[in-house]
Amino acid sequence: MRVDGTAYRTIWPAADGPAVEIIDQTKLPHSFETLRLTGLDDAAHAITAMQVRGAPLIGATAAYGLWLALRVDPSDVSLNRACETLIATRPTAVNLCWAVEAVRAAVAGLPPGERADAAFAKAGEICDADVAMNRAIGEHGLALFRELHAAKGGGPLNVLTHCNAGWLATVDWGTALAPIYMAHDAGLPVHVWVDETRPRNQGAALTAWELGRHGVPHTVIADNAGGLLMRQGRVDLCITGTDRVTARGDVANKIGTYLKALAARANGVPFHVALPGPTIDWSLSDGDAIPIEERAGREVSHIPGRTDDGEIRDVRITPPDSPVANPAFDVTPAELVDGFVTERGRCSASAEGLAALYPEHASAA
Ligand code: MRU
Repeated sequence: MRVDGTAYRTIWPAADGPAVEIIDQTKLPHSFETLRLTGLDDAAHAITAMQVRGAPLIGATAAYGLWLALRVDPSDVSLNRACETLIATRPTAVNLCWAVEAVRAAVAGLPPGERADAAFAKAGEICDADVAMNRAIGEHGLALFRELHAAKGGGPLNVLTHCNAGWLATVDWGTALAPIYMAHDAGLPVHVWVDETRPRNQGAALTAWELGRHGVPHTVIADNAGGLLMRQGRVDLCITGTDRVTARGDVANKIGTYLKALAARANGVPFHVALPGPTIDWSLSDGDAIPIEERAGREVSHIPGRTDDGEIRDVRITPPDSPVANPAFDVTPAELVDGFVTERGRCSASAEGLAALYPEHASAA
């Protein structure tokens, strides 16, 4: 995607040395800053501190993190320690584990002296594959958008999305936002209701920023507004990304997604989820078995903002003695999801639907 006329991915090898560059997403939407990751610890920190976030992007960052670790020490001990460190950074998105295991498999059988180069190549492959998958998700999602727009019979297609499943959450394009970009570029009128997505405000800070840069009409709403808008007939479609989909189609995504799916079902609004193949956890069937990340209470008790002087500062909004809880994801049962949009096409949110698109995994389902 382009920022001020320059094409960016969200992660790329530095041109001038053994490092990886990222966009520091903790600074958006206030300022666009890039950061250099030069070692395993930088990569692990970038993921835990959410300088990078979004399931596919944390996988890509972990892949480059292994390269950075193996450059320093390519031994088995170092490889295994680096894999453990990276897998421990965030528990819910399965893409992280998938990418780490993909790099481990690509390098483990090689002599130590060849491992770093092989990890670098694999990380690049993972990034390129992510971009290709998201582009394909965009094309399949565009077909869905066209159908819904034709059925509506006029006016813009009003799409509600939660969290950020745009290019910032992936290497490029995004998952749930890819069809939105493609629809907008194809001249299909689309307007996006952007859930603010408390507590970290990925919607208000990141999705709104992305859509604005691309010229896509959008409106940021409080998380609690979606139900009213659906009841008023002002939402034609909900579409989100996901951090992990089980073999039977249960969907883990940013906290609050489940409530939107319930409201959508109650109001007859189609609820779709966009995902690339690496987001499917074929080892799990029941979504309640997905580990839910519990993040710092400070994300709930405080709100970050920028002062008029340009300083980014947290402001407390709860009484200092009130306990807070901060589960970062929830699980939407497959029954509440009207369809999946994947890089291989669309399917029902069910074991049968997923197995038909990914027959190589069908026995696992
Ligand atoms: O905590 P985050 O910001 O990493 O959560 C991101 C999401 O929940 C996204 O919706 C999900 O990763 C899909 S991204 C294509």
